[in-house]
Parts: sequence; structure tokens; C-alpha cells
Amino acid sequence: MIVLTLETTCDETAAALVTDKLEVLAAVVASQDKLHERFHGVVPELAARAHVERILPVIHETLQRAGVALDDVGAVAVATTPGLAGSLLVGLSAAKALSLALGVPLVAVNHLHAHIYACRMAAGPGVFPCVGLIVSGGHTSLYRCQSPFDFHYLGGTIDDAAGEAFDKVAAMLRLPYPGGPAVSRAAASGDPRAHRFPRSFLGDRERLDFSFSGLKTAVRYAITGAGPGDPAAVELTDRQVADLAASFQEAVVDCLVAKAMAAVARCGLSTLCVGGGVAANRRLRERLKQEADAAGVALTIAPPELCTDNAVMGAIAIERLQAGQVDDWYLDAVPGLVRA
Ligand code: KG4
Ligand code: ZN
Repeated sequence: MIVLTLETTCDETAAALVTDKLEVLAAVVASQDKLHERFHGVVPELAARAHVERILPVIHETLQRAGVALDDVGAVAVATTPGLAGSLLVGLSAAKALSLALGVPLVAVNHLHAHIYACRMAAGPGVFPCVGLIVSGGHTSLYRCQSPFDFHYLGGTIDDAAGEAFDKVAAMLRLPYPGGPAVSRAAASGDPRAHRFPRSFLGDRERLDFSFSGLKTAVRYAITGAGPGDPAAVELTDRQVADLAASFQEAVVDCLVAKAMAAVARCGLSTLCVGGGVAANRRLRERLKQEADAAGVALTIAPPELCTDNAVMGAIAIERLQAGQVDDWYLDAVPGLVRA
């Protein structure tokens, strides 16, 4: 059987065709980065409208690349939570329409569970049970993942997501959007010890939460000094930008690595899976590897193309489908994070 998976939770319009043996026949991602660039962040209404324009061309392109006819699609899966309300509704409406027209099952996907399933797609079924760390523009969460059906929320950010902090710090440093890759590039020539930025909750091993909003403010004050002022209006040398980027990145990485490893120890597991856009960060990948190796933990980080939003990871729907878990027409978009 061939399953069409759709992903429109944030600002990527994506579709994939995956067989029930988890073979990816084709996958297409239309990014909206250019659209949101000048705002240094995703504007929800613009994102929703762009999904409306792109969803059908993206589905057509995916079918064409796979050489598959619409009639060959045996089920339709769609990410329904969490995400931006308007964006989620576009994917959900398209999925319902296709499912109804083709007379095939409709299956909901939890976008965060799917980010972890990206590791399953890359590394095979042996990744379960694991601790899953999702680090993206909208989320920073830790899960105990017993199986593709059983995710238990352990903790997460109490304010901003790690990727959001990268994007806003990039704006302060006048680096391009999305900020993660730009900050990472600038950090490569900087000194991570140049600034001592805060690392939230690191002293509290019991707490598996994150906070990045104070870190953003600390970077801001390091640029402007305490008090008002526009950090992007301050002239910085390349050296200053590199040092600020490296020190900020190191603070984020310290928190992510420490809490992920603490979660693995707490759960008594020996596997860690990491997904989401920020998992593409080179320094994070390097530090996770060092710590995991030292602790004898098997580490799977999603390959870069499966870190940022994509529809291949929506293949988690195939597990649900095979277990007989299909959804009905009452299926709705749930924008907020449901902690399960
Ligand atoms: O998973 P994703 O595509 O979207 C969400 O579900 O939010 O993640 C996008 C985020 C952006 O904030 C972007 O700046 C960040 O991932 N990102 C990175 C890197 N590449 C993308 N952050 C740090 N380092 C990177 N190399
Ligand atoms: Zn995502």
C-alpha cells in the first residue's frame, strides 16, 4: 500500500509518498523562508495563505516524481498537532478532501512524535525505546518514546523554543533568516567563552525543562548594554559577532545536551534520538556525540533533510494504520502542545 503524507504545521508545505514497508517513493518540501525573511520569524497568516497556494502543486509534484497515480494512494496522513492553527487547517482540509474523494483511510500525525520518527526512518526500528529530544523553531521538548505509539512528555521549554532564540539572536546580530544556520556559521570563528551567558535549570538535575527567553535578553544586553536600545542598530565588528554567536550557541547546546543526557539516565534507557530543525546544528551534533559516546548511549540524530519540517517523518502514520488506528471526519487541528 502507498500512503500520502502531508505536513503543513508551520511554514513548510510538504508531501511524501511512502509504502507500507516504509520505502520513500518521493518527497517534496516547499519552504516559505523567503516569505518570512524580512520579519525574522514566521507570520502565521502569511504562512496559512502560502500553504493554500502550494498544497496542490506540492502533492502533484510528489505524485509525478514517484510516478504514482492518485488512484494508487491507499491512505492519507496529515500532521494535525501541534502547529499554527491556520497552517494546520490547510493540510487537514486537503487530507480530508483526498481521503473522501478516494475513499481511503485518514490518519492523524502528531508533528512532534513525527520529528522523532525521522530517526526511525533513518536508522531502523531499533531506535525504540528511546529518549526523544525535539529541537525546532517552535518546540524544545523531551519525550520518553517507548514505541511509535507510546510517547510520554518529560519536559520542555517554559517560554521560547531553541530555534526561536537562534532566529531572534540572528536578527540582533544582523544575520539572515532563518537564524540557525547563520548563527552557526558565524560561531565557527568565535570564542564560546567570550561571554558567560545564562544556562537555565542546569543546576536542577530533577527538572527536564528549558528556558531560552532570558538568554535572548542576555545577548541583547551584551550588545546594547542594560536599558533600552535596538541591538540591530549597534555596529559590531565581525569578531564581536562571531564571539556573541559562539557564546550564545554554546549556552543553548550546554542546556540541550545536559537535559537530554539527564533524561536518558532518568528513564534508564540507552538510546537517544534527536530531531527538529536545530538538530542540524553542527556544534550540537558534535557535543551530543561526545556525551553519548562517553555515557555508552546509542545516539541517532535525524539526517539534516529530515531535521527540518518534512512529510517523510509523517510515515509514523503507517504504524497507526497497521494497528487499525484510523481517524474520522471529526478529526480537528489542535494548535497547542498536548503533553502526551
Ligand atoms: O523543525 P523546523 O523546520 O520547524 C519547526 O517545526 O519549528 O525548525 C526550524 C528552526 C529555525 O528556528 C531554524 O533557525 C533552526 O530550526 N535551524 C537551526 C539550524 N538549522 C535550522 N538552528 C541551529 N543551527 C542550525 N544549523
Ligand atoms: Zn517541526
